[in-house]
Amino acid sequence: MSHESRTSTRRRDFLAASAAFTAVARAQEARTKKERLGIGLIGSGGRGNSLMNEVLRLKEEGFAGDIVAVCDAYRPRLEKTAARLNAKAYSTSAELLKDPNVNAVFIATPDRLHVYHALEAVRAGKDVYCEKPLTHWSQFDKLKELAGEVRASKVVFQVGTQRASDVMYLTARTHINKGAIGKPIHVVTGLFRQGDWGERGMPVDDPNAQAGPDLNWEAFLADAPKRPFDVSRYFRWRMYMDYSGGPVTDLYPHYLAPVVMALGLGFPKRVAAIGAQYVFHGEREVPDTFDALMEYPSGVTVAMVGSQGNGETFDPVIRGTQGAITLRESNLLIEPERPTQNRAVDIPSFNMVREHVRNFLTAVRTRGKTNADIENGYRTQTALIMAMQSHLARKVAQFDEDSQTIRLD
Ligand SMILES: NC(=O)c1ccc[n+]([C@@H]2O[C@H](COP(=O)([O-])OP(=O)(O)OC[C@H]3O[C@@H](n4cnc5c(N)ncnc54)[C@H](O)[C@@H]3O)[C@@H](O)[C@H]2O)c1
Repeated sequence: MSHESRTSTRRRDFLAASAAFTAVARAQEARTKKERLGIGLIGSGGRGNSLMNEVLRLKEEGFAGDIVAVCDAYRPRLEKTAARLNAKAYSTSAELLKDPNVNAVFIATPDRLHVYHALEAVRAGKDVYCEKPLTHWSQFDKLKELAGEVRASKVVFQVGTQRASDVMYLTARTHINKGAIGKPIHVVTGLFRQGDWGERGMPVDDPNAQAGPDLNWEAFLADAPKRPFDVSRYFRWRMYMDYSGGPVTDLYPHYLAPVVMALGLGFPKRVAAIGAQYVFHGEREVPDTFDALMEYPSGVTVAMVGSQGNGETFDPVIRGTQGAITLRESNLLIEPERPTQNRAVDIPSFNMVREHVRNFLTAVRTRGKTNADIENGYRTQTALIMAMQSHLARKVAQFDEDSQTIRLD
């Protein structure tokens, strides 16, 4: 190719790219106006459907938007959800993202696919509500890529860690910022519950399902190790390390993200963790018990502990140099270190997921900041990936802020 034709190709590419950019900018601008928003769903399993129920509830409350498109790699679920929501059915995310009626997408596919669908959506200029965990534990490089692209874009991005919109944590943040507990130095949080219903108990719609035109096994695998089709891996993917990670990736994003938000934490400097399978064995590969200690450069330690083998759980406690805050069922208990008077701050009842979806859809309209934005998601997921790496390598994971890299010592 001559220099001239290379230049003109480059110029054509540039013009095409700037036309696409202008179209995206115009579409985003339209979202601030009174026009109805078009919502798309990628992944119409259990979670995708319950998120759409919250959108429908907000619509009843006056939200000006419609669910216009659904995508799923398994045709029976796609058809059922599309019929229920009266939305257009697409069998791939690429087709859904080309639909000009879609302004914002909810991503509720298995963990390993989130980052790919999120990158595709950001590149298409759609606003994104992406379920937690932001990536699979083996995808740290993709996590960095996503954080970079979201920062460089104008899209509104919310991670599905709904406790970031929990009035309890938002109120705790206000009291902490006012100095109610002095300088925060220590957090104990996590989750104990009994049962492996979330993994082994996932519904297998059809035990005789086969990979083919109605079930896209390749799209499910994405960058996971290539394997022949397996019905249990497809429907009960939370049992396997290739697609999930147990409590640290499935449950702890919910408990770490609001702490990162309330305390304004950055990246941890080191994380040491131990995971174990004490109770649930057999085909299940992911740990059922997981404890992690995370040290932050601002001088805070976070202990995230829990097990699926025992349901005696506890309330998270944030300790500071002059007091402690316990996040209880319906109130915050603020206890000064040298007690003058303990205070219980009542928290009105609310639907946390609905508030989180509302927070996202409001930001889509105002082009504002979300409660669980990409910075929160990047920091939270980096800490959890470090915890998993520490557990697997039986070493301590260190984070280098400058190079944004993890090292195991
Ligand atoms: N925030 C929360 O409280 C919460 C609660 C439950 C689940 N989740 C998250 O939501 C996600 C989905 O969980 P779930 O329980 O609904 O799982 P699920 O298996 O029920 O749903 C996933 C759906 O994605 C589809 N799918 C698979 N590969 C696809 C592809 N390449 N393109 C399009 N669709 C594809 C599957 O067919 C399935 O219908 C998980 O990442 C989970 O961590 C979050």
